[in-house]
Amino acid sequence: MSETGRESTGDVHPPGSPRPGTEHHRHRDRGQPWLTVSSRACASLWQDAPVINYSTDLSDLTEQDLSGFFVGWPAPPTAAQHLAVLKGSYRVVVARDAGTGRVVGFVNMISDGVLTGFIPWLEVLPEYQGKGISGQLVRRVLAEAEHLYSVDLTCDEPLRAYYEKLGMLPLRGMAVRRWQVLAPERRAPAES
Ligand SMILES: CC(C)(COP(=O)(O)OP(=O)(O)OC[C@H]1O[C@@H](n2cnc3c(N)ncnc32)[C@H](O)[C@@H]1OP(=O)(O)O)[C@@H](O)C(=O)NCCC(=O)NCCS
Repeated sequence: MSETGRESTGDVHPPGSPRPGTEHHRHRDRGQPWLTVSSRACASLWQDAPVINYSTDLSDLTEQDLSGFFVGWPAPPTAAQHLAVLKGSYRVVVARDAGTGRVVGFVNMISDGVLTGFIPWLEVLPEYQGKGISGQLVRRVLAEAEHLYSVDLTCDEPLRAYYEKLGMLPLRGMAVRRWQVLAPERRAPAES
């Protein structure tokens, strides 16, 4: 699968921008100055909206591709742990900047493969947030598991409305957290 927030196959124009061959572009070709300005504005929009490829194929994914995630975590998982998590998951979707190849977001699902799935990780790099990338990731990973009865995740209260917009139901949850498991090789012996 290789598609985009602005689709890389198909419509790659930001919403609202004229397409080549449409009225705006034809007028610009006739040299009307106000439309040249409009075209520049579109070019700027174009630059601001990176083309994102979404993929379920992890075969070429390396630890080096997974930098910048787990923002604000005191002891974030290592890139090796991150890669192992993704490779060990039931379903994964990664988002890459088509221009740089950089992995800018990911979501994974673990599952019994029969009835139930759980989405433990979803993250978009800070500089790529607010562009609809996580919505694409969640929709795509849910589509990958349409045969499952239940797909659950936990989230902080402020994100509830966001997940409800994606069609999810609010539930109460309980959890265990063992922080010492994260990035164990970065810990001093006294901490472990
Ligand atoms: C949450 C996160 C994945 C959203 O990614 P994103 O690509 O920026 O999301 P989108 O552009 O699709 O926007 C999703 C919506 O969530 C909202 N949102 C994002 N982060 C939010 C937060 N911390 N609290 C409340 N709302 C938030 C956005 O405002 C947006 O709302 P809108 O649709 O009404 O405009 C991203 O902020 C992130 O990686 N956060 C750190 C990790 C994290 O919290 N993961 C979620 C675990 S449950």
